[in-house]
Amino acid sequence: MTADEKPTVSFGFRTVAEDEKSRLVGEVFTSVARRYDVMNDLMSMGVHRLWKDALIDWLAPSPSTQLLDVAGGTGDIAFRFLERLSGKPGNAVVCDINPEMLAVGRERARERNLSERVTFSCGDAEKLPMPDASFDAYTIAFGIRNVTHIDKALAEAHRVLKPGGHFLCLEFSKVNDALLSNLYDFWSFNAIPLIGQAVTNDRASYQYLVESIRRFPPQQDFADMVTAAGFKQVKWRDMTGGIVAMHSGWKR
Ligand SMILES: C[S@@+](CC[C@H](N)C(=O)[O-])C[C@H]1O[C@@H](n2cnc3c(N)ncnc32)[C@H](O)[C@@H]1O
Repeated sequence: MTADEKPTVSFGFRTVAEDEKSRLVGEVFTSVARRYDVMNDLMSMGVHRLWKDALIDWLAPSPSTQLLDVAGGTGDIAFRFLERLSGKPGNAVVCDINPEMLAVGRERARERNLSERVTFSCGDAEKLPMPDASFDAYTIAFGIRNVTHIDKALAEAHRVLKPGGHFLCLEFSKVNDALLSNLYDFWSFNAIPLIGQAVTNDRASYQYLVESIRRFPPQQDFADMVTAAGFKQVKWRDMTGGIVAMHSGWKR
């Protein structure tokens, strides 16, 4: 790169100027926000619910757990967290960069009578509007591949967790079985953009989503990034053959 060239990053399979990515990602989620939840069910055939339940299993929350769910969008993880407390007290904070996704989340919280227990905060995972050492758990589900600088988002996760705090990340990952990989590629690159076109009238956003999944680092590489951010005992668990991986780490 010469001095006058701007740094670049991936946006799906495209390479864009680093300072462009956040706006482009913003356009994707603004466009799909109203149909985001129904599309999740259609694209994953409902399996995203099991992946999210598994994250709550690993978190094993108690009423005293202070949860921050980053890139929390329409609130799925926060709602599951509170439902797992089965009527016991507890609160969650959802932080997302996109006001339209948060607006859908607030409506869903009202429908579930959870408005008093979930705070929706607009903010960037790379520069969280939260003080140091303020949460017991930090979760991020299908969000981290969308941030421009993953290392900065991980550093922020470490900063806002209390010592002893738990980091958990759900993200699409690398499928190792060749047959499953072929089926998954077929579904991703053929069916998903078509479903996106039919349901949201926006094929391009779903093309980005499937491309961004393929650009995300595989399990071990992402674990190395989580470790580099200062987390200890970093491990992961593959789900659905590695279509999704859940990474865990602890702040000491
Ligand atoms: C695929 S959605 C995931 C939503 C939710 N976590 C779920 O699992 O249903 C990705 C979310 O990441 C958010 N996002 C993208 N870049 C972000 C950033 N830099 N900081 C915070 N949120 C971001 C988007 O606005 C979007 O709501």
